[in-house]
Amino acid sequence: MAELNILRTRSVSAELEQRLSGVETDLNDGLVPAWVFGNDPELYALERERLFPRVWSFIGHVSEIPEPGDHVIRYIGEDSFIFIRSSDGEIRLLFNACRHRGNQICTVERGNSKAFQCPYHGWTYANTGELTTAPAIDDVLGGIDRGEWGLLAVTRLEQYRGLYFACLDPDAPSLAEYMGDAAYYLDIFFGLFDDLEVLGPPQRATWPTTWKAGFDGFGDDYHLITLHRSLFEIGALAVPPAANILGHHIITGHGHNITISIAPSDEIAYWGYPAEMIARYSTKHLDDFQIDLMKRSRVLVGTLFPNFSYLVFPITVDPKIPAVPLAQIRMWLPRGDGRMEAWVWNLIPASASAEFREKSHLIAIRTFGSGGVFDQDDGLAGHGINRTSSSVIGRSMKLNYQSGFAIGTAEQIEDWPGPGAATSHRYEENAYRYTFRQWVRFLRDDAYPELIPAPRKLA
Ligand code: FES
Ligand SMILES: [Fe+2]
Repeated sequence: MAELNILRTRSVSAELEQRLSGVETDLNDGLVPAWVFGNDPELYALERERLFPRVWSFIGHVSEIPEPGDHVIRYIGEDSFIFIRSSDGEIRLLFNACRHRGNQICTVERGNSKAFQCPYHGWTYANTGELTTAPAIDDVLGGIDRGEWGLLAVTRLEQYRGLYFACLDPDAPSLAEYMGDAAYYLDIFFGLFDDLEVLGPPQRATWPTTWKAGFDGFGDDYHLITLHRSLFEIGALAVPPAANILGHHIITGHGHNITISIAPSDEIAYWGYPAEMIARYSTKHLDDFQIDLMKRSRVLVGTLFPNFSYLVFPITVDPKIPAVPLAQIRMWLPRGDGRMEAWVWNLIPASASAEFREKSHLIAIRTFGSGGVFDQDDGLAGHGINRTSSSVIGRSMKLNYQSGFAIGTAEQIEDWPGPGAATSHRYEENAYRYTFRQWVRFLRDDAYPELIPAPRKLA
C-alpha cells in the first residue's frame, strides 16, 4: 500500500520569523499580538505546511462509519481524505486523490462504497485503496504495478475512546503521548459510556475569521456573561451569571486546555444527566478524583491543540422546561486565509431513551448548532477580532491575556489532585499563553517541536 507522508518545504521570511519570535516575548508579558488572528497569506501558508500535517488532527468518531464500506470526507488542514471502514473491516484514511492525474476520487460527503472510480479516466480502486482496474487496462496500463499505484494511505491513524485522529509526520509522538495529561480530563466524559454515537452528520458553518478564533473562544468562559447574556436573560443557562466564574481552568501541557464549571450547589451535577442515565455511567476508567470532578461538574469544555474541542453541559431554551444536557465535539477547520468552518457533532449514548435523544439533539441544535444562539454570537465576535487584526492599525495592537497572570484574582491551586496546572476560577487566561507558545513552536521549529509540558508554577 502506498503511504502518505509530508514534505517539509517552506522556509520562513525573515520578517515573519522576527514576528514569530516576538510572540514568545509578548507571551511572557501576558500579551498576544493581534496579527495572529488577522488575514496573513504567509502565516496561513506556514500553518498549512508546518502545523496541520504535524499535529494529531481529529478525523471522526467510530460511530460515523459503522458498516463495511461506510465513508465520510474529512480534512487535515484543507487537504481532503476519505475516512472509511474498508470491506476487510479495517478503518483507513485515504488521500482523496487519484494517482493518475490527481483528480478527486470521492466527490460525495458520505456514502457506502465497495470501490471508487475516478470520474476523469476511470481508474478504479477497492475501498481498501488498492488499484483494481481501469478502462482498457491492458492496452493503456499493461505492466503497471497495481500494488504501487493504490490511493495514498495515512499510516498514523489512531483512536482514543472512539475518537480517531491522524498525523502525517513520521517523527511525531504517538497520539497518547501527544494528548498527554489532557486524556485524563477527556476521560471524565468520554470514558463514561462505551456506546457513545454521533447524532447524524456534523453541522457546518463558515465563519469569517481565522480558525484560531475557534479555540480561543471555546476555552473562554468570561465572554458568556456579556456576549451570550441573552441566554442568561431568558433563563436558558441553569446558573446565575455571577456563578459562571466558579470552577477551574486547567493547563495540561502540549497546548491543550480544559475548563470545568463547578456548580455552586448540588442541584446541577453530572452535567444534568437524568438519574437513570447516571446509573448507567461506567466509572471503570476513572479514579476517585475524576469521579469527584464528574459529580460536581456543570460544564466541561476542553480543547486539544490545535483545533479539536468538546463540550458537555445542560441547557434549555424555556426556563419552564428543565435543562437537558448536550454533548458535542467540534472542529475549527481552516478554510482559506481568514475563513474557517465550525464543525459540530452531537453525541448521545446509544442506550439513551428515544425521548432523551430527541430532547438532547433539539436543544443542541437550537443553542450550539450552526444556527444556534451561541454560535451566532460567537461567529460575530470572531469576525470582529478578524477585522481588527487584519486592519492597518489593529494588526499592531497587543491583546490582553493577563487575567490570572499579572492582574485579577485567579491563582494556581497548589494541591490540585489531578495532572496539570489548575486555577481557582474559570476566567483566567494563562492557558492561552501555553497554547500560543505551542503554536509558535510548530511554526518555527524545523525538527518536530517540543511538546511543552504544563507549568509546575504559573508565572
Ligand atoms: S485522473 Fe483519475 S483516472 Fe485519470
Ligand atoms: Fe461563546
